[in-house]
Amino acid sequence: MKTNRVQTFAFALLTAFSFSTLPVKAQDGPSLTEVVEAWLASPHADRTSEAFRHWDKDGEVPESCATCHSGPGFMDFIGADGSAAGVVDHPAPIGSPIDCATCHNDTASKLDSVTFPSGVVMSELGSSGICMVCHQGRESSDSVNAAIAGMEDDTVSGDLGFLNVHYRAAAATMMGGSARGGYQYDGKDYTQRFNHPAPLNTCVGCHDPHSTGAATAQCVACHKDIESTKAIRTTTVDVNGNGDTTEGIAAEIVSLHDRLAQAIQSYASEVAGTPIAYDAHAYPYFFADTDGDGEAGSAEATFPNRYQSWTPRLMRAAYNYQFVAKDPGAWVHNPHYALQLLFDSIESLSEKASVDVTGLLRP
Ligand code: HEC
Ligand code: HEC
Ligand code: HEC
Ligand code: HEC
Ligand code: HEC
Repeated sequence: MKTNRVQTFAFALLTAFSFSTLPVKAQDGPSLTEVVEAWLASPHADRTSEAFRHWDKDGEVPESCATCHSGPGFMDFIGADGSAAGVVDHPAPIGSPIDCATCHNDTASKLDSVTFPSGVVMSELGSSGICMVCHQGRESSDSVNAAIAGMEDDTVSGDLGFLNVHYRAAAATMMGGSARGGYQYDGKDYTQRFNHPAPLNTCVGCHDPHSTGAATAQCVACHKDIESTKAIRTTTVDVNGNGDTTEGIAAEIVSLHDRLAQAIQSYASEVAGTPIAYDAHAYPYFFADTDGDGEAGSAEATFPNRYQSWTPRLMRAAYNYQFVAKDPGAWVHNPHYALQLLFDSIESLSEKASVDVTGLLRP
């Protein structure tokens, strides 16, 4: 069993973890040197990244962020430091990325179920459970519904602010309808966990846990004659209605995502009464489009100019727009879930604003 291999290794790490002991050969698989080098070059080890430096001026990573932005914070959260599991008890030290001990300790190797932001618990996750603690996002259908509860769908409310799913929530995409990470509209059915053949339905089935890179050389075993992985398609439905059922499923997602951007802008101007623009890199992402040019210019993409004319209908659609935007692997993590969220958001906006849905088909 792989777990045993990892446990054996965790023991070796605890007793002799020192870079001077390298190289040591693992029982099978890559050498320890290869593992360490892969990890050192990975985003998880990148101390200079915003994901580990954001709190430099505060001197510590607060409890609410520590689980995913600090190795010791993660160990605190899962209870590997002897504290209660499921809660971070202390702020974590800054500049402490995700290292060997974060993922290789007794508690982490037994971790098999994970609670998602919706409160749903997913089980039998194997060694990918570790990844899903951090790559699950921070919001869900449930938190969006709680924010808009009791409000009229098309009435602007000053109490509403944009809810951001957070970044790289690959596990929420992969688990689909069962984890409710996207905004799921009432009365619609959603694809559950992406039904890709095992082991390509787990994180470490595709991603090397140390480099974090996805092993794409294996794809051509089943997806023959493809120019690139993004050209992969098995779906027969012409989702965006452009007559092309051979383009990669990734292109269908890009196409519906663009259509949703247009729909959001039409609805904001026509129904909410304030034009809106999006900037993928500026918090909180949606801004008042004061000059009406459809873009968030540098003068517009500022926090004081954040969009403040939210209605419940606009909140739901904008949430899904960001959900797909912030998982660049949505096309491979669960393409139909992404397409369903985009389709339903466009359809909902089209009930009130001039949004063209001709030809669109829900997969
Ligand atoms: C459930 C796990 C989780 C929690 C909790 C969490 N984050 Fe993150 N955060 C992530 C992940 C995963 C990324 C990775 C983004 C990437 O790969 O670029 C990230 C990225 C970021 C980034 C970098 C964004 C960028 O564009 O480079 C910032 C800043 C950030 N988070 C702030 C916070 C703050 C502030 C908190 C606490 C209020 C927080 N996060 C809590 C998982 C989390
Ligand atoms: C993000 C979590 C994570 C980090 C960080 C991490 N590992 Fe791993 N490691 C794993 C997982 C998960 C597996 C099991 C992979 C599987 O099930 O196929 C593994 C497997 C291994 C193996 C067995 C060989 C293999 O590749 O399957 C060795 C050896 C190992 N890790 C050493 C290390 C060392 C040394 C470090 C620090 C330099 C480290 N790991 C950092 C998650 C991690
Ligand atoms: C303790 C939280 C944590 C765990 C556990 C974790 N990650 Fe990450 N992951 C992050 C953060 C934070 C980043 C962003 C790092 C950065 O920006 O340098 C990240 C980055 C990544 C990236 C690169 C994203 C990008 O923007 O380029 C991939 C891919 C990834 N992780 C996959 C995995 C896999 C697969 C596992 C499980 C083996 C895993 N992660 C476990 C928190 C975590
Ligand atoms: C079927 C294979 C497959 C599975 C399963 C899979 N991924 Fe991915 N993932 C990929 C590929 C391929 C990409 C690159 C997407 C791109 O660049 O368009 C990717 C992208 C990512 C990224 C963003 C990297 C970046 O450069 O921004 C993260 C983070 C990530 N995956 C984490 C995970 C986690 C966590 C899991 C498990 C919940 C998972 N993935 C499951 C294949 C997979
Ligand atoms: C063992 C065979 C096999 C391998 C290897 C494989 N796939 Fe798949 N893939 C499938 C099957 C079967 C489906 C259809 C699944 C379904 O519709 O439920 C699929 C579907 C997909 C889809 C969805 C296409 C669509 O139109 O909805 C994507 C994207 C995808 N695979 C990407 C990848 C990538 C990337 C890799 C390599 C990391 C890979 N696959 C490796 C068998 C495989």
